[in-house]
Amino acid sequence: AVRDTAQEEECSVYLVGGFVRDLLLSFPTQDLDFVVEGNGGQFAQALMKRLPEGKLTQHVKFGTAHISFPNGSHLDVASTRVEYYSFPGALPQVEESCLRDDLFRRDFTINSMAICLNSEHFGELVDYYGGKRDLQQGKIRFLHNLSFIEDPTRMLRAVRFARRYNFKLAKETLEALFTAIETGVLLKLSVERFTEELFVIFQEDNYISMGQTLIRSGLFQGWFGEDYSWNFSEDDVQESVGWPLDQRWLSCISRINSEDIEKLCGRLSLNKTLRDETQIFLHLRAVLPKTQSISELDQLISKAPQGVIAVLAQDEHFRPRIMDCLESEKRIRMTLDGKKLLQMGVKEGPIIGEILEQVRRAWLEGKIHSTEEEREVAQQ
Ligand code: CTP
Repeated sequence: AVRDTAQEEECSVYLVGGFVRDLLLSFPTQDLDFVVEGNGGQFAQALMKRLPEGKLTQHVKFGTAHISFPNGSHLDVASTRVEYYSFPGALPQVEESCLRDDLFRRDFTINSMAICLNSEHFGELVDYYGGKRDLQQGKIRFLHNLSFIEDPTRMLRAVRFARRYNFKLAKETLEALFTAIETGVLLKLSVERFTEELFVIFQEDNYISMGQTLIRSGLFQGWFGEDYSWNFSEDDVQESVGWPLDQRWLSCISRINSEDIEKLCGRLSLNKTLRDETQIFLHLRAVLPKTQSISELDQLISKAPQGVIAVLAQDEHFRPRIMDCLESEKRIRMTLDGKKLLQMGVKEGPIIGEILEQVRRAWLEGKIHSTEEEREVAQQ
């Protein structure tokens, strides 16, 4: 469809960026990014005629278009363009130019390659800046030395790509990264953009080793202003691959004291789920040592999000009791509910909740073993 549309619209179209990099590395990839030499918006509209199930969103100011499909896949179309940053960390201003310039505005050589999709040169690699060589040599290399100043999120991206592919930063790029950290370039970023980029890292399989690098390089200290006792532990590497985002996040802050967690959260713009779960985690961590009975423990645990419990259970102080409580919860086979209690003649009101709570507790403590016993407890 892309090739035919390109022919029809008489423009040059290229696959660019991460897709080309991952294709050459035989690394799985989903995002398709196209660059059109010419009017990208017009091209995207024409392409839509061939992809009727797609949904088109256009950003005229940026010369970009986004097409999403019902199966969750999507593709981005950009016009060749020059991006101007009015100040570091700002959104780019865009102006038309050519492919070579477009590729030069990108972060690293490995991300600056393109594959032509026009019939005459279909499948040809365009590599002005030595991207293929750097891929072969395992190097993350910037295209120009203002790269990190122009867009400080690239500092985090450099760490992410290096650890994802097990690459090294080229000498000048590494030096520029340290200089940028020392001179506080990162601080030009908004809290939102830093957070967004950080949580892209948390979604990577290799996020633990990325976290270690963020600490070692001083990047975290540069942003948070302090060295906290982050937990990016080698011991978690294997298991953490299956952890959801909340569990990864809570686990990495789990060794930091509560006051510092509050402070570092002030430097992030966490979404509501993570904010709430962080608070629940802090609360439970504080009250669990004071919780005596299994039913008190159950009250706390049964209402808490799974990620919070999973991370608390990683702590050897809490693990035995949490496991014990979860084991006891398995005994609960409640058949009673509010409706049944009403049928049994209990009056509507808070008493219903209280009875159900008592029955649940009796199950938990092993005082009930059958439905009959359950009813007896409810009637007492
Ligand atoms: N890019 C850039 N500077 C940034 C972000 C992106 O130059 N701060 C360019 C790079 O050429 C990159 C492309 O935009 O390849 C697409 O960016 P993005 O989708 O964020 O990253 P990918 O390279 O596709 O990597 P990933 O596999 O993580 O999606």
